[in-house]
Amino acid sequence: MSVLLHIAASARRDSFSRELGDAFAAAWQSANPSGTYVLRDLRTDPAPQIDEAWTELCDHVLRHGITDISRYEEAVRTPDQARAWEVLRPLLTELAAADVVLITTPMYNFSVPASLKAWIDQVTFPRMSLAGRRFVIASARGGAYGPGTPREPYDHQERYLRDFLAGHFAIDDPVFLATELVNSRIDPSLAARRAQHDESRAAALTAARELGGGIR
Ligand SMILES: Cc1cc2nc3c(=O)[nH]c(=O)nc-3n(C[C@H](O)[C@H](O)[C@H](O)COP(=O)(O)O)c2cc1C
Repeated sequence: MSVLLHIAASARRDSFSRELGDAFAAAWQSANPSGTYVLRDLRTDPAPQIDEAWTELCDHVLRHGITDISRYEEAVRTPDQARAWEVLRPLLTELAAADVVLITTPMYNFSVPASLKAWIDQVTFPRMSLAGRRFVIASARGGAYGPGTPREPYDHQERYLRDFLAGHFAIDDPVFLATELVNSRIDPSLAARRAQHDESRAAALTAARELGGGIR
């Protein structure tokens, strides 16, 4: 039985990245009726920032060459570390159990929101591998960052997530979907680009449904 873990990072409920992710998840659930869908909504249930005890757990794992996630608990030696582990354990358990990980994220300041970075910091340990899992990233941006656009070099969101997934999780084939030019809905200086936003949104939603329906 397949498990889809959805990490939702937008600070708002009425969100274009959520809309994309929800389209993917609904298609995935139709295609995988016996599958399990797990939502970790960082808006209502944020991952705390890592603390000093977390870094001690991480150092222990590194020092002792522990790469098996099921052995990380061996690193717990003090009450503070036990508290850090209790925060981390459910996040790590649901990530380790997932076959497909869907991350829905806004672009904030050319990168990912602090809420998503906090989740990444909590669940990432040295030389950990999630090879074989499927990762899908559905994002929304106020502007346009596609190939050939003036803002393309400013897209530190996709660049960062690609490098992070390859470098820390051994995931070399993540799929990225994006609804762009969301700010054309509210920024008068971008109003002329509203049709481009509508096209981007429609294309991303179609891609999300196709992708969700095709992943087992
Ligand atoms: C704090 C903040 C920072 C943002 N920074 C950027 C940015 O650097 N580039 C951009 O294109 N849009 C930026 N935006 C616009 C969002 O990317 C856009 O509203 C997007 O739709 C948010 O995703 P959501 O609809 O899933 O919440 C920013 C919005 C906020 C609230």
